Amino acid sequence: MKALILSGGHGTRLRPLTYSQQKQLIPVANKPVLFYAIEDVIEAGIHEIGIIVGPNAEQVKETVLSEDWDADIEFIYQGDPKGLAHAILVARDYLGDDDFVMYLGDNILREGIVEHLRHFKDGDFDASILLQEVPNPQQFGVAELSEDGKTIKRLVEKPKVPPSNLALVGIYFFKPVIHEAVRNIKPSWRNELEITDAIQWLIDNGYRVGWTKVTGWWKDTGKPGDLLDANRLILDDIQTEIQVETKARIHGRVVIEKGTEIDEKTVIKGPVVIGKNVVIRNSYIGPYTSIGDNVVIENTEVEDSIILPDSEIRDAGRIVESLIGRGAKILRGSSHPSGRKFVLGDMSRVLL
Ligand code: G1P
Repeated sequence: MKALILSGGHGTRLRPLTYSQQKQLIPVANKPVLFYAIEDVIEAGIHEIGIIVGPNAEQVKETVLSEDWDADIEFIYQGDPKGLAHAILVARDYLGDDDFVMYLGDNILREGIVEHLRHFKDGDFDASILLQEVPNPQQFGVAELSEDGKTIKRLVEKPKVPPSNLALVGIYFFKPVIHEAVRNIKPSWRNELEITDAIQWLIDNGYRVGWTKVTGWWKDTGKPGDLLDANRLILDDIQTEIQVETKARIHGRVVIEKGTEIDEKTVIKGPVVIGKNVVIRNSYIGPYTSIGDNVVIENTEVEDSIILPDSEIRDAGRIVESLIGRGAKILRGSSHPSGRKFVLGDMSRVLL
């Protein structure tokens, strides 16, 4: 059994962060989203992993290889991202005749894949998918089940009129027959080779497609709000681990890494994670905040936010529900004329 983890694509819904950074590398609770997928796969006993890379291939390789994984990891270059089924075409040689799990590197699944993999193996299915009820099925692939709920009748990608509220999670188990399926489908209206169509091809041609329901939470981190949601969900499960001396007032579950300095005028209310070599003075860090390495925060309140490494925030009032990119600066200007002064990247968003 192998794994194919997808870490390509342009991440247009996450601009401006994705101009400089591959979307699957954006940290949630100070860990790249992609690492959650790699951990799930290894936990399920799969130690051969192919990672599909695209626009920021070198960045993905460097980040993944900075960790010591219990797996052989190969990188497969996709060129232009032409859909999820296209990724399987590109990985044909790597996958050979092995069964595999395809895991979209921007998905996070709390319960991992162990039970879902067992269902695929025990049922001897040709493919098996994961489903979860969602309030907005129009934004996903959607499954229509048979009347007894045992089999999948039909799958549709982002339907205007969804046949159910059961969304396809971005994790799929396949036998090698999927290679025949991906060769036999045509690009969709959005000009992509859809994995949903390839699985429909399996159903139409009499192959057995199983399904399991996700019981815990699942997040596709494609948009800023989803990243903040995922951050809250992961932080809900952290345990306190404070690796420095500090006189700050700390309540609730908080992680603080080495080299970080937090003064006695600061109040921290967990769940919060704070990385290495961070400096925080006279500030309030509220629940559901993740602060990356080397960040400086002074005279500011931050809550329910993700702050990437190397940012500087001083005298900034109260910041909530924000996603702040690497090396960003939020400061209070003192020179005339007074007023709000911005240097914002393309596609930035400011809510005043
Ligand atoms: C893709 C799939 C879709 C699935 C979703 C899960 O959508 O095409 O069927 O429900 O991932 O994350 P995309 O992220 O390409 O919009």
